[in-house]
Amino acid sequence: MAYPIQPLFALTCLPLMALLLFPMVSDASKGSRQLRLRCGATSSASDSDGRTWEGDANLGMALPGFPANASYLDPLLPSPVPYMTARLFTSNFTYAFGVDPGRVFLRLYFYPTAYGEHSAADALFSVTAGIHSLLNDFNPFQTAQVMGHTYLIREYSLSVTSGKLKVTFFPSSRHVGSYAFVNGIEVVPTPDIFTTPVPRFVNGGNRDLVPVSSDIGFQTMYRLNIGGVTTSGKYDSVFYRSWEEDSPYIHGPSDGVNFFRDSNVTISYPPSMPDYVAPVYLYETARSMATDVDVNLSYNLTWVLPVDAGFYYLLRFHFCEIQNEFTEAYQRSFFIYINNHTAEEQMDVIYWSGGLGIPFYTNYIVVTVGSGQTDLWVALHPDISARSEYVDAILNGLEVFKLQDNSNNNLAGVNPTLMQNRDGGSNTASHGQDKTDASIPAIVGGAASGFLALSFVCFCICVLYRSQKKTDNHGMANWSRWNPPDGHRHLLLTTSHSKDSKLCHRFSFMQIQEATNNFNAAFLLGKGGFGNVYHGQIAGGKKMAIKRGNPLSQQGIHEFRNEIEMLTDLRHRHLVSLIGYCDEGSEMILLYDYMANGTLQEHLYNTNKPPLPWEQRLVICIGAALLAALPAHRCEVGHHPP
Ligand SMILES: *[C@@H]1O[C@H](CO)[C@@H](O)[C@H](O)[C@H]1NC(C)=O
Ligand SMILES: *[C@@H]1O[C@H](CO)[C@@H](O)[C@H](O)[C@H]1NC(C)=O
Ligand SMILES: *[C@@H]1O[C@H](CO)[C@@H](O)[C@H](O)[C@H]1NC(C)=O
Ligand SMILES: *[C@@H]1O[C@H](CO)[C@@H](O)[C@H](O)[C@H]1NC(C)=O
Ligand SMILES: *[C@@H]1O[C@H](CO)[C@@H](O)[C@H](O)[C@H]1NC(C)=O
Ligand SMILES: *[C@@H]1O[C@H](CO)[C@@H](O)[C@H](O)[C@H]1NC(C)=O
Repeated sequence: MAYPIQPLFALTCLPLMALLLFPMVSDASKGSRQLRLRCGATSSASDSDGRTWEGDANLGMALPGFPANASYLDPLLPSPVPYMTARLFTSNFTYAFGVDPGRVFLRLYFYPTAYGEHSAADALFSVTAGIHSLLNDFNPFQTAQVMGHTYLIREYSLSVTSGKLKVTFFPSSRHVGSYAFVNGIEVVPTPDIFTTPVPRFVNGGNRDLVPVSSDIGFQTMYRLNIGGVTTSGKYDSVFYRSWEEDSPYIHGPSDGVNFFRDSNVTISYPPSMPDYVAPVYLYETARSMATDVDVNLSYNLTWVLPVDAGFYYLLRFHFCEIQNEFTEAYQRSFFIYINNHTAEEQMDVIYWSGGLGIPFYTNYIVVTVGSGQTDLWVALHPDISARSEYVDAILNGLEVFKLQDNSNNNLAGVNPTLMQNRDGGSNTASHGQDKTDASIPAIVGGAASGFLALSFVCFCICVLYRSQKKTDNHGMANWSRWNPPDGHRHLLLTTSHSKDSKLCHRFSFMQIQEATNNFNAAFLLGKGGFGNVYHGQIAGGKKMAIKRGNPLSQQGIHEFRNEIEMLTDLRHRHLVSLIGYCDEGSEMILLYDYMANGTLQEHLYNTNKPPLPWEQRLVICIGAALLAALPAHRCEVGHHPP
């Protein structure tokens, strides 16, 4: 929805506008003028990437809204700046930035947490920039919870014609006590990076309605460093774009294989391609299919990317051959499918790029229908019609941009919600206001209540341990850290000393689908922050609790790995036993002993389950303390409350 903001400026904000016109900071080394504001702060400070952020109250004048400090420093934040300060608004407020006419990246930084008396859940607001509606009744807390993120960055590319970029925050009128907040605002001028090459339309859609003109607004949905690791903006020094590891989004029977360029291959951009299109490291890694021809042909190398339905998307594929054996055309040819439509029939990277080490990229436009959220499917499959030498496919990078709805300049989607029905492994999120209860880890059941309780207490300890361990971690998606250099998740689990020696079995995804009747809702035991828990039996064996992680959750991946490490190291009669795991594709599944008597929570709080006697509670506490004190174990009680 587009808000009529012009009258607002005319009537109320005009006197303020002059005061709030933030000058762009000149960055001579970059030849462009960039601006970074830490909102609610009075002084400038640097983030962990070394970028300087100006306090928005630095100009020494009273700004509307309230400056506030976050009440809790989450160890998953990449840096306290700009997240630990915020400006809160209970009425409409506009920031205006002086910008040279042209395109800019506008990045909004949100850390949903309590700010003084303002609870995280009450932040509900809309944001516009010029004529564009960017966020509509946005609830950062709910969004972050569903996505498994600690903080959110929203990046837009907008065309500014007037010399001023006006960003307005509107607290929602739909919720009593709602407020708006923002931790950081970044404005980075860019050249036009969208209109070439001319995109190909993949499915339906009326191309006359969607000219990718130089003034259209975009939202960045994904920037994936395929086969590589997550990198912060620091390494993309022109526009400070961050790139994310792709493996959480891979779907299907195989992740394929990821690799780094051969050591004597150098990446050289062709004269037609400006080096700001993408950083060199994007092209230095890639993912391809498998080592064996039957495997290569048997599946599609697939990524599933949740997006807002009802929009057009621009998908940019980055390619570069980086292995010495690929120097000629007709060596590797493959199909590109987007949403099950053929986008390209004979993608031959050398044929298109002109040689080994030369990058190039293609653009496609796809239209999605409906409302709420939907999944974008991107798949590669070898093309054998070309009789190419290898039966394989390759991809180095993928960007997904949402195009504004031209009828109302809208870019806003809806707040995501987790749905319990998931089919085939992709996470389907839907429109709605329900929240998932992320408070209790989903270890369900308990033959004896005390038994169960300990597992919960120990889980808390695990969480504490995790929090501590993460404090040194400043990546954007922190779990990339524990990937070995080739980024392959399986390797780490194998090298973990716990796995083989200690009864922790690896199951195939198919075995788990069979055990749970393909995650049938009738097998659902409960839901937690990590994902859903089902009961099931593998090959008629003993009953197990099967916890399936949400593939979107970065925290989930940490949790997954930590839980395997912790629970295989820690075997105790008071601790629920981990039987095994499954880590196929983007699946993260843990299998535990099944506990018949429900959760500890149900025995502690007001439910119809019998309350736990005090004596037993004490036994549990002492047991947990002893467990934590065992020297051989890596359980430590940290200083962060879970
Ligand atoms: C936030 O913390 C800083 C540093 O501790 C302090 O100077 C400032 O007054 C605090 N701001 C608010 C609004 O509490
Ligand atoms: C804020 O803006 C919205 C949308 O333009 C408008 O409906 C509302 O009345 C404004 N609120 C105030 C307090 O000006
Ligand atoms: C790189 O080394 C391989 C042998 O390891 C050789 O075959 C190839 O020609 C070299 N490539 C370049 C570009 O020097
Ligand atoms: C593509 O096909 C798969 C398998 O048939 C299906 O599960 C998926 O929903 C389809 N995706 C889209 C976007 O239509
Ligand atoms: C790959 O995807 C395409 C398009 O959705 C589909 O037609 C084809 O059957 C898939 N191939 C395999 C092996 O799954
Ligand atoms: C299958 O793909 C792998 C790499 O992904 C490649 O090394 C192999 O040569 C391919 N198989 C055939 C028979 O081309």
